[in-house]
Amino acid sequence: MDGTAVFTTARPTSTSALPTDLVAAIQALKQELNAVILAHYYQDPDIQDIADYIGDSLGLSRQAASTDAAVIVFAGVHFMAETAKILNPHKLVLLPDLDAGCSLADSCPPADFAAFKAAHPGHLVISYINCTADIKAMSDIICTSSNAVQIVNQIPTDQPIIFAPDQNLGRYVMAETGRDLVLWQGSCMVHENFSEKKMVQLHMEHPEAEILAHPECEPSVLRHADYIGSTTALLNYCQKSDRSSFIVATEPGIIHQMQKQAPHKQFIPAPPMGSCACNECPHMRLNTLEKIYWAMKRRSPEITMAAELQQAALKPIQRMLDMSH
Ligand code: 13P
Ligand code: SF4
Repeated sequence: MDGTAVFTTARPTSTSALPTDLVAAIQALKQELNAVILAHYYQDPDIQDIADYIGDSLGLSRQAASTDAAVIVFAGVHFMAETAKILNPHKLVLLPDLDAGCSLADSCPPADFAAFKAAHPGHLVISYINCTADIKAMSDIICTSSNAVQIVNQIPTDQPIIFAPDQNLGRYVMAETGRDLVLWQGSCMVHENFSEKKMVQLHMEHPEAEILAHPECEPSVLRHADYIGSTTALLNYCQKSDRSSFIVATEPGIIHQMQKQAPHKQFIPAPPMGSCACNECPHMRLNTLEKIYWAMKRRSPEITMAAELQQAALKPIQRMLDMSH
């Protein structure tokens, strides 16, 4: 197995004409292709609004595992579309922009991880779904931010564990389970960029607001959080909470759904360190309605991968699905 996923791409040319009603054209293509559009909460609001399903990484994996559509259009990043392909090797899986990567997945190169594993014999490998198919193929169990604690709690306490690639989620899981995990030192460029100082200042301006944070955030941010959870968990929490305002320390794409589900409440994005918009994921935000249209029209760019890699990466994903309830 060479472990290398192969990708094909066909980008629209400047002479290609876009339909005037892009949303209607995408709906028509959906019928024609028998396609389903799966979108992560970090997508632009206009993409979320045309999706058949919007969710966190676990929800999206479950949808990908159960869909009877012939074509999956993945409005998310590469590792998510790749996971959908691993679960559906015979279906066409389209990713509107193949450059939609992930800094966290990139922080764990396969050759370095193989050496790390070899240096820790006897360890079970639990990898966060935000990793490449090659890393999944080297793992025993995959987890997401919504089931990581639950999965680690199911492992016998005398079994040593490597947790990769997100060190912040790993530290959070260690605190929640009381387990000592061997952590790969990866991180997400968006979640490590929230400013503790600015967030505390913002909280002083809105003392009534609850702080919601994703476990990919740094410990300095997490220690101020009233609630920590995956994007779906944060969304559910703010609906149930009796508070009417929230500071949200995760990618602000989620605020579109928060606002839709609780229009009378106030959601304030947690500030990044600099003056940039770097709390928005530059990878997730590469997708556009236009690119979704072209991907469906041209049945490309498509995710493809070697059968051996697909089968090796499927086992730990299936184990995750079996262990999550
Ligand atoms: P969840 O979808 O598990 O909340 O993770 C967020 C994320 O960073 C996805 O890239
Ligand atoms: Fe990767 Fe972070 Fe973007 Fe999620 S938000 S896709 S973890 S870079």
